[in-house]
Amino acid sequence: MQSIIYLFLTSLLGPSSVNGCLSGRHETDGSHIETQLELLGARSHSTPPTGKIALTNVRVFDGWTIGAVARNSTHATVFGATGFVTSPSEAPEFVADVFGNGPEYMKLIAEPNGFNQATHNALVSATHALGKVAMTHAQDCSYEVAIRSRTNGIQHVPFDIPLTEEMAQLIKQQAQYVTPTLNIGKIVTANATLVSILSGGVNLTYQAGVAGVQQLMRAGVPLLAGSDANDAAGSFLVGDTIGITLHRELQYLTDAGMSEVDALRAATVVRSFWHSLIGRGSIREGYRADLLLLKPGSDPLRNISQTMDIARVWNGGIEYVPTA
Ligand SMILES: *[C@@H]1O[C@H](CO)[C@@H](O)[C@H](O)[C@H]1NC(C)=O
Ligand SMILES: *[C@@H]1O[C@H](CO)[C@@H](O)[C@H](O)[C@H]1NC(C)=O
Ligand SMILES: *[C@@H]1O[C@H](CO)[C@@H](O)[C@H](O)[C@H]1NC(C)=O
Ligand SMILES: *[C@@H]1O[C@H](CO)[C@@H](O)[C@H](O)[C@H]1NC(C)=O
Repeated sequence: MQSIIYLFLTSLLGPSSVNGCLSGRHETDGSHIETQLELLGARSHSTPPTGKIALTNVRVFDGWTIGAVARNSTHATVFGATGFVTSPSEAPEFVADVFGNGPEYMKLIAEPNGFNQATHNALVSATHALGKVAMTHAQDCSYEVAIRSRTNGIQHVPFDIPLTEEMAQLIKQQAQYVTPTLNIGKIVTANATLVSILSGGVNLTYQAGVAGVQQLMRAGVPLLAGSDANDAAGSFLVGDTIGITLHRELQYLTDAGMSEVDALRAATVVRSFWHSLIGRGSIREGYRADLLLLKPGSDPLRNISQTMDIARVWNGGIEYVPTA
């Protein structure tokens, strides 16, 4: 089961353009993809081997239990998070301590009862001062805090307030990127209990998230396909399962108006570029062999839900077969 997480990074298409047959959808010019891959390649030549290995049959870290949260915030109480920071002056020591444990990113939580702007800014600045990358969770009116902090990546889109054109333009200008995770929005907004647990009393709607994605697409913000999935059996986020949620994310992104080719790129090359996953996200010599083979006749460039017509799967060059 755990191996399926690597499908998120699987390449489904080469960098060549398949634009001709697609119309009426928001589609970006793909010519920059080659440049991005060259940049990644250049980086990989100047970067010493990191000794990364693929771990299978391990519990997957869900991204919510490292990182900085404000005391008594929703994340601190609902998820039992413990990385408390209470003022800007605590940021440098906290951030140095986190990176002393060897993570790739600093994860910050922006929420209505969370950090004020100054503390969020201080955490991002301290992260950047170490040459590291900051990621911020924001799903509501705290989105402004995330944007203004100049964090690198923002996970989720606001599901309460509109993401305005001005916000989208600022995200673009500041070279930030967004992983909308419409899938978790769909799960939470369909369940009043989950809304009440997670929202801190504000109304969340799926449509607000979709409108936010559309605003970001119009502004040309890089959008990454991702999910909030965890593998914890019995999670209170019912239906938030690793694997299927990523396929659904591609469907939700295309429903929101993204072209099928951009949705596939959001799950492959765009994702690996913005997360600096060197040697992944595309099918080319020397790259990690994370491959998804679809059944004959399936064409996700015409119908994105056909990414689920899976015939065979390789993860790091090893084929995984269903256990019936
Ligand atoms: C957190 O809540 C506890 C208990 O209600 C309270 O004593 C404490 O002052 C609060 N801390 C902050 C930083 O708000
Ligand atoms: C949330 O939406 C419901 C239904 O539209 C409405 O009755 C309620 O007043 C709203 N609550 C807030 C806090 O906006
Ligand atoms: C809504 O979420 C709650 C909390 O996890 C869960 O108990 C309930 O079964 C969910 N409802 C539906 C319809 O999935
Ligand atoms: C897209 O493919 C799915 C799965 O194969 C199928 O159920 C659905 O009807 C297809 N949609 C269209 C518009 O062809």
